[in-house]
Amino acid sequence: MGVRYERRIFNPLMDWALSTPAVAALRVQVLRACPDDALEVGPGTGLNVPHYPPQARRLRVLAREDRLDERLLARAAQRGLEVQHVRADAARIPLPDASVDALVCTFVLCSVESPRACLSEFARVLRPGGRLHLLEHVRSPRRIEHAMQRVLTPLQRVVACGCELDRDLRTDVESSGFDARDLRCTKSAALPFPASELLAGVATRR
Ligand SMILES: C[S@@+](CC[C@H](N)C(=O)[O-])C[C@H]1O[C@@H](n2cnc3c(N)ncnc32)[C@H](O)[C@@H]1O
Repeated sequence: MGVRYERRIFNPLMDWALSTPAVAALRVQVLRACPDDALEVGPGTGLNVPHYPPQARRLRVLAREDRLDERLLARAAQRGLEVQHVRADAARIPLPDASVDALVCTFVLCSVESPRACLSEFARVLRPGGRLHLLEHVRSPRRIEHAMQRVLTPLQRVVACGCELDRDLRTDVESSGFDARDLRCTKSAALPFPASELLAGVATRR
């Protein structure tokens, strides 16, 4: 499905589905202690914006679109956050090595073409000790649920702009140069199955 489907149907749907109080609470946890001037990858409609720590004044967002979503801009204006748009794909970030203190990535790695390519790019631009604030739905460790995720993924990919339900993102994070000790993987009531297994927290660039 094309860019118009994403803008007119998928984005409003995601804005509704991912803005519940339960998901907002997870966003608050993941963004706690996020430094000013973080780089948020794939910000969509800006649902993270209200949850950055109060001292944050500036946010860089990496998005492929020419124009940022109006809901993101409205949320940033309301929050008093200055937004800078870096127009790029998450797998090719036009920033120097070790130039970023913190990256934010929520519900994005499920739908990129190659999570490993993106994560190694994140590792490249983050300084050693830099933080990757992550919230993603992932593969279930329960066999029957995993089998159901595999069956549903081809349909999900079509209706949800490339989203895959059964990605083992924790392994991808660990093998891309991050310390993932502070990432928690749990079955959450915040999202319904088949997207209820969530990986959340902060991974640190080694
Ligand atoms: C499900 S939405 C999540 C939006 C937002 N991060 C949130 O938590 O509500 C997925 C977002 O990832 C973006 N995205 C997908 N693949 C991307 C890529 N390769 N590079 C940059 N952004 C990407 C999409 O444009 C979309 O905004």
